[in-house]
Amino acid sequence: MNNARSILSLALSSLIALSACRKDQESPGGIKDDSLPHRYANGMVSSATPEATQAGMEVLRGGGNAVDAAVAVGFALAVSLPQAGNLGGGGFMVIRMADGRSTTFDFRERAPGKATRDMYLDSAGNVIPDLSLTGALAAGVPGSPAGLLAALDKYGTKPRRQVIGPAIRLAAEGFRVQPGLAANIAEKLHDFSRFPSTLAIFAPDTIPLKAGTTFRQPALARTLQRISDSGAAGFYSGTTADMIVRQMERSGGIITHQDLLDYKPSERRPVVGTYRGDSIISMPPPSSGGPLLIQMLNMMEGYDFHTIPFHSAAHAHVMAEIMRRAYADRAHHLGDPDFFSVPVAGLVSKEYAKSRAATITDSATPSARISSGDMSAYMHESPQTTHYSVVDKDGNCVSVTVTLNASFGSKLVVDGAGFFLNDEMDDFAAKPGAPNLYGLLGDTANAIVPGKRMLSSMTPTIIIRDGRPWLVVGTPGGSTIITTVLQVIQNQADYGMTLREAGDAPRIHQQWYPDTVYYEKGAFTTATLDTLKSLGYKTVERDAPSGRVDAIRIIDVDGKRWMEGYSDSRGYGSAEGY
Ligand code: GLY
Repeated sequence: MNNARSILSLALSSLIALSACRKDQESPGGIKDDSLPHRYANGMVSSATPEATQAGMEVLRGGGNAVDAAVAVGFALAVSLPQAGNLGGGGFMVIRMADGRSTTFDFRERAPGKATRDMYLDSAGNVIPDLSLTGALAAGVPGSPAGLLAALDKYGTKPRRQVIGPAIRLAAEGFRVQPGLAANIAEKLHDFSRFPSTLAIFAPDTIPLKAGTTFRQPALARTLQRISDSGAAGFYSGTTADMIVRQMERSGGIITHQDLLDYKPSERRPVVGTYRGDSIISMPPPSSGGPLLIQMLNMMEGYDFHTIPFHSAAHAHVMAEIMRRAYADRAHHLGDPDFFSVPVAGLVSKEYAKSRAATITDSATPSARISSGDMSAYMHESPQTTHYSVVDKDGNCVSVTVTLNASFGSKLVVDGAGFFLNDEMDDFAAKPGAPNLYGLLGDTANAIVPGKRMLSSMTPTIIIRDGRPWLVVGTPGGSTIITTVLQVIQNQADYGMTLREAGDAPRIHQQWYPDTVYYEKGAFTTATLDTLKSLGYKTVERDAPSGRVDAIRIIDVDGKRWMEGYSDSRGYGSAEGY
């Protein structure tokens, strides 16, 4: 492979000279941030809203551990970030306790018992537009309440009322609507107008909530109170369950009381790997995030990025080819491990990554020439989402990504219960080869089966350096989640950026199909784009930001451990510590 690398560098060296930006070499990412990062020793939370960050801080200051605080943030996001924070959706939590134990909670939604493989196809076998995205039929059985409470029961230290209390207060007393939330509601007014239960809360008299107004959600406060009083039973049975099932009956959905009673989160072993000596702890299937992140990092180990300038044509080329190969594997090999034998050990093996990277040449490989890799040797083994990161004073770390799928999920609020239902059914492969909301492809591994979890890209991750936590990281962003996490890691590990520089730097993305390299504004110079074109790449500037990272980095300064937080400048979240 080293030979392949040197051929690649020789072939590209003249192009690099033309396109590499001198400024990039002096200041990776071209980001200037002269302000010193705020550092804290006792605990830190980074999330997508200041209200949720405060909820986590309240629990940490009250003596709760990182899991207690993470559960508090999860419930508070269900109130303050209705686009993605949720009760009616699902998510993943990765935990690394200070004593070295690590684990994950999978509370991904499941297909209802009445779901069928072809439920989103018409009689001619074509995908019916929007059916898996908007309205009751788009919803999988929610997992967030059960998952957060399972993590609290096993790894938390505080009672339910203490960790759900801040969310109940927030819903009952209200919070000030951020311009970002007001804009998102206004954008979706057309979809919301199909559902009176949604309009009543987010656009009373069809006037969308305005920035700066106080937003109170009494129905949601009552639902949260039922969960606080009765645990998971306060959601999956009794009043809340009755409301969900009534909404299904009124709106053509299929989730039943039995589906709700049957929902159980799974505690799963994390998927682990290494990158240049750091240990990567991430989310296993039904997330594709952890396996693909580790596979891509393994392929990257074959390159010396010190000799490849940041966001030069050579850098973009190597990264795009690595991403292309990993996403081809995603389409074929990944699905819910309870229903499909996912070859995780193969996908994350260094040997497999070497064979995969060996097919990278010195120009773009058309996606049509890349198929999923041969896993036969390994077959025996068994934009809207939100991410937050928490670290406590003892060094317990929690990395959580939760989602409703699209912004505000199915757009359908459960009448009387005050929360949105997800549209996660769209994350299944409705039909082999038919792209989902994110343009992702899939086949049998991710086909719809009752009770099965749809494949996800969510990549909550914790990185250990020299035996101690170094980085807690994750992001929303649909299919771009995995490549965003990858670049935030690479920017720090290979390009020496600070956490803020690593997060703020423009990002690139390739996902096999479409056969296109997407980039954020400012990622490349015109000369670099010309070079990429000459190498065979189609490039497209994204019109929306790629991801919204909330991360915490733990560093040694003068022999003392400090936490530095980062809440993406693309969003309106906050990182706080004490
Ligand atoms: N709904 C986005 C994901 O889970 O990947």
